[in-house]
Amino acid sequence: MEAILLVGGQGTRLRPLTISTPKPLLPTAGVPFLAHQLARARAAGVDRIVFATSYRAEMFEAAFGTRAHGVDLVYVSEDEPLGTGGAIRNAAGALTCGPDEPVLILNGDILSGHDVPAQVALHEEAGAAVTLHLTPVDDPSRFGCVPTDGEGRVTAFLEKTSHPVTDQINAGCYVFRRKAIDAIPEDEVVSVERETFPDLIESGAVVMGYVESGYWLDVGTPEAFVQGSRDLVLGRLASSAMPGEPGERLALERSRVSPGAVVRGGTAVGRGAVVEAGATVIGSVLLDEAFVAEGATVRDSVLSRGARVGPGAVLDGVVLGDGAVVGPGNELRGGVRVWPGIKLPPTALRFSTDA
Ligand code: GTP
Repeated sequence: MEAILLVGGQGTRLRPLTISTPKPLLPTAGVPFLAHQLARARAAGVDRIVFATSYRAEMFEAAFGTRAHGVDLVYVSEDEPLGTGGAIRNAAGALTCGPDEPVLILNGDILSGHDVPAQVALHEEAGAAVTLHLTPVDDPSRFGCVPTDGEGRVTAFLEKTSHPVTDQINAGCYVFRRKAIDAIPEDEVVSVERETFPDLIESGAVVMGYVESGYWLDVGTPEAFVQGSRDLVLGRLASSAMPGEPGERLALERSRVSPGAVVRGGTAVGRGAVVEAGATVIGSVLLDEAFVAEGATVRDSVLSRGARVGPGAVLDGVVLGDGAVVGPGNELRGGVRVWPGIKLPPTALRFSTDA
């Protein structure tokens, strides 16, 4: 089966992490985020993937080449971002399958353990134009929701509301019949969520909902990105792309964790990163060459390449951009983001609320 991977977004909610690296390439549990998706796609029977790129397009081919994790890879770039539907239509030019074949479409920022072959099987049984993975969430008011009827047919795409009619939301993984992709207008900005799916339902086409409540996470925010990495390291979602066994921490080559440091809770320690004695790092992501000095505490945070945390500093739910430095004794909490290269002098900040 062929697939299209949507990876052209700017990832604005994840800045400053996405200034230098597109969201789907951010190191997650030791490898680019997409490596986990490629491995899972392969396991689900996908043998060829078309990457729909736009933002920093050239970095994708540089990262994966023409074959990775047992999947052949092709790259199609948009000069101007075409939105999710326009990107799918644009990428379809590189598909080789026939008009009635199923094509899997994946958002490039979703970690999902759902049963893709079961979703494809439902699609084929129903003779659907499109079959969407829907996942139940605790608080559907934060999402658009997608009700289905007794036969599993999608009846509407509803905007965010304080009184949602269902807890099912669009989980960002679709099976399209090839000819339903070819029917999307060419060279236009189109949103599948706002235009293609509602139009298909309106026209009476069969749009099915495949509801499954397994592991699912949209890693679009810093909190979710840290959670995704943590869950992979801890083995809450199995991934054959992870370069090591699941456990309390994943330490990559050339990293140095002092025997006198506490590093646990699914922390990833990047290449050449250092954690000194007396430091505590819990449930965090330390990218390559990051440095945590003696006595510092880092929890639920991301330290980008070469970022440094000084002695005794405390970080909780913080993002440090590439090369950012937090001087000794600072205390940063609740959503603080330090831009690349910024240097906070000793004890410049003691506390901050949600950004
Ligand atoms: P935010 O800016 O933080 O909302 O992130 P995003 O840019 O990734 O947007 P969003 O999470 O809504 O996108 C969902 C998926 O579609 C992601 O995998 C994006 O990479 C992808 N995507 C969004 N817009 C485009 C586009 O115009 N072209 C392509 N090729 N992909 C897109």
